[in-house]
Amino acid sequence: MNYDVKDINLADKGLLRVEWARRDMPVLNAIRERFEKEKPLKGLRLAACLHVTTETGVLAATLKAGGALVHVCASNPLSTQDDVAAYLAKHEGIPTFAIKGEDSETYYRHIHQALDVKPQVTMDDGADLVFTVHTKRQELIPEVLGGTEETTTGVIRLKAMAKDGVLKYPMIAVNDAMTKYLFDNRYGTGQSTIDGILRATNRLMSGSIFVVAGYGWCGRGAAMRARGLGARVVITEVNPLKALEALMDGYEVLPMNEAAKIGDIFCTLTGDINVIRAEHFPLMKDGAILSNSGHFNVEIEISALERLSKGKRQIRDAVEEYALKSGKCLYLLAEGRLVNLAAAEGHPSAVMDMSFANQALASEFISKNHAQFQKQVYPVPAEIDQEIARLKLAAMGTAIDTLTPEQEKYLASYDLGT
Ligand code: ADE
Repeated sequence: MNYDVKDINLADKGLLRVEWARRDMPVLNAIRERFEKEKPLKGLRLAACLHVTTETGVLAATLKAGGALVHVCASNPLSTQDDVAAYLAKHEGIPTFAIKGEDSETYYRHIHQALDVKPQVTMDDGADLVFTVHTKRQELIPEVLGGTEETTTGVIRLKAMAKDGVLKYPMIAVNDAMTKYLFDNRYGTGQSTIDGILRATNRLMSGSIFVVAGYGWCGRGAAMRARGLGARVVITEVNPLKALEALMDGYEVLPMNEAAKIGDIFCTLTGDINVIRAEHFPLMKDGAILSNSGHFNVEIEISALERLSKGKRQIRDAVEEYALKSGKCLYLLAEGRLVNLAAAEGHPSAVMDMSFANQALASEFISKNHAQFQKQVYPVPAEIDQEIARLKLAAMGTAIDTLTPEQEKYLASYDLGT
């Protein structure tokens, strides 16, 4: 079997860590039990380009239990957990191509190796796999039935492809399921982003000024958790509704060129490019920390930081010190890549449980129902979303009420008013 991992001898450590993650993934475990019995993915060739973490280990094993022939590669050069990659290759027999810290050439070689499975379903986190199929491996397109996409950035990319008429097969936007973005983006990114910043720096949050760029679901989560640790949180936004929401949630809202002067720790979560850029660095305080938790490493203009600096050094794991020509030092975390995955372990398993339940069920859904879809981006069916919420609540031991017949009738009527 073909694979490319850092060290296959790490497999047993990976196995233990995946077992640990599995404890917190009851919904995915229930899906796996059904998949084992029913084999709904029997013979399905599936390429998955995801952050290779313990949770992805549980997902890949679930897809395999459903009968799929799975190849796995990384969706980011810095997010791979090498022991999990080794576990997948050795204990699950899944061809896995992922090494933490791989260079760009290796990253794309690994994507091509995952595509060598000749996928009928593609599973993406950021749309690099789909993009590679559409640009470099077009010979694969006729056999692809459909794909799934995990993240906001990937969905935006796919919608742009669909709008331009270049998307060649239907995609399910897993990100847009409520059981994904309301939990993963908010509580998952919220906790894991702070976790990454703290593991990298060990800075005290209490009393510091924490600047969050972008008040989408991820930004909301990071702001909430930073406030919980005692930071004074400042939000920067370009969208008036989101800025208003941030203000009414009790945060200070400033343009970046004002926030730049006062921030101790900056974190970008916008999905956009050059959010912290050349004009902002000179305004910053000596010692300011720069991090990004958006999908791509484009949110902080690193080339400008390089230009403005007379030198840089690695001062701690995942912390680079940039000595500006002005004499100040700025600290960039994880090379501007996703700090929650590069400097910590990504979202906790309990939240990935729902995200990856969506991935598993969406891949089953699209493989069975592809014929009824156009080459567009579709939401996860509401029944799947609701079912995942029901299963998660049950696993958390929480019961809810059901409508009485009288309430059902009332909600379906319009004649009862004041
Ligand atoms: N994205 C964010 N956190 C993740 C995790 N733990 N596993 C896979 N993808 C992720």
